[in-house]
Amino acid sequence: MLRLMERATTLWAIPIIGRAKGRLIARLIDKHRPANALEIGSLLGYSAILIAGSMPPKGRLTCIEANPFLASLVEANVETAGLAKRVRVVPGDALRAIPLLPGRFDFALIDAEKEDYLEYLRQLEPKLRPGAVVVADNTGIARKRVGPYLEHVRDSGGRYASREYDFGDDAMEVSVLRESPRR
Ligand SMILES: C[S@@+](CC[C@H](N)C(=O)[O-])C[C@H]1O[C@@H](n2cnc3c(N)ncnc32)[C@H](O)[C@@H]1O
Repeated sequence: MLRLMERATTLWAIPIIGRAKGRLIARLIDKHRPANALEIGSLLGYSAILIAGSMPPKGRLTCIEANPFLASLVEANVETAGLAKRVRVVPGDALRAIPLLPGRFDFALIDAEKEDYLEYLRQLEPKLRPGAVVVADNTGIARKRVGPYLEHVRDSGGRYASREYDFGDDAMEVSVLRESPRR
């Protein structure tokens, strides 16, 4: 299913995270073994299928997708991938939806409006478990627009251990919320 989506999205230049970044996400999930993940911006469900499919069997993923048509497409694609039991799709604007989400998260992928990355994270922070991994996509191609987000995760009084992964044509920022902030 992921291979089919890669072919179709390349043909029509649809912005999914794709195979190389997907490999990094799968590696991070394998290392940190999150139980409760959040995705902000799901489009067709490529990254949702990748995340849910990489999580431990009891892992659960919540996807927030602003476009209601795309949200139902994500649900359908997740179901086709056999992952419906692990994934909940919340249609709507993440800035409104995040504060209403129950529970706490130990993994998040932020991949929606670039100017809003910092605001998504601010809404999410009270719901992050210590050690949570937060991945922000497009920090290469949207460098200026995600500037305030990068400043926050890189210079937050040691709250996060944050580093950028360079993919040549783009980059991803991976930030791990420290158990106890460094001074
Ligand atoms: C780059 S695409 C996501 C690609 C997806 N993560 C993947 O790799 O398969 C961005 C998505 O974010 C959604 N979006 C934009 N603003 C949003 C918001 N405020 N809340 C939730 N989703 C939003 C768009 O509708 C679009 O589907």
